[in-house]
Amino acid sequence: MNIRKAIKARHSVRQFKDIPIGKNEAERLNEIIDECNNESGMNIQLVQNDPDCFNTFLAHYGKFKNANNYIALVGRKSLGDLDERAGYYGEKIVLKAQMLGLNTCWVAGSYGKGKCKADKNAGEKIVCVIAIGYGENQGKPHKSRSLEKICALKKDEMPVWFKNGMLAAVLAPTAVNQQKFFIDIDGENAVITAGRSPLAKIDLGIVRYNFEAASGHKCISK
Ligand SMILES: Cc1cc2nc3c(=O)[nH]c(=O)nc-3n(C[C@H](O)[C@H](O)[C@H](O)COP(=O)(O)O)c2cc1C
Repeated sequence: MNIRKAIKARHSVRQFKDIPIGKNEAERLNEIIDECNNESGMNIQLVQNDPDCFNTFLAHYGKFKNANNYIALVGRKSLGDLDERAGYYGEKIVLKAQMLGLNTCWVAGSYGKGKCKADKNAGEKIVCVIAIGYGENQGKPHKSRSLEKICALKKDEMPVWFKNGMLAAVLAPTAVNQQKFFIDIDGENAVITAGRSPLAKIDLGIVRYNFEAASGHKCISK
């Protein structure tokens, strides 16, 4: 599966089979996590076989099942753009997971923050987590906002690379599917602005990664 197919195939999955992540898949995930940590200066971790973190009222209410594995997006609070970095690198890992046959769900609210087993060094915090495992289902497509509402260009004015980027941007996961971002073109790059909401910067990083992965062009945040 290539990255554009992974972007199309990815939907949030909250019910997982009660089986551990395969050894090979876990190794490949840890490889990409190391790569992301080296590039971003974050301390992202894969936590496996921990039934506690999603054993909370909110997780049950949110219909999470067998969410025993997760990726914790941990980083230094002093990084001014920590949320955006978490979004960008988290989505890189999510799409890799999809290509490895795993399913995921970004989670900022429906887990036990105090129960998360990830290690934190002094000055670090957990931005959010991503539940990961073999889905009981593949999830379903979300409603996407129309391109005119989130983009300065009309469809027939878009260069092919930009259109590919936009199509991937509207498929990106965002908190409560809010899709509060706006994308414009600036020469060979795209420029993205985030809406105002508590999780908008995480969303911004996620959407930037989707756009860049599908278009091969930079998507710069303003
Ligand atoms: C930053 C962020 C936080 C999220 N937090 C939660 C959460 O706490 N609980 C939950 O069930 N889903 C959560 N989601 C999943 C979104 O509801 C989901 O991505 C969105 O509805 C779009 O659906 P899709 O991922 O299937 O495309 C979160 C998504 C993002 C990007």
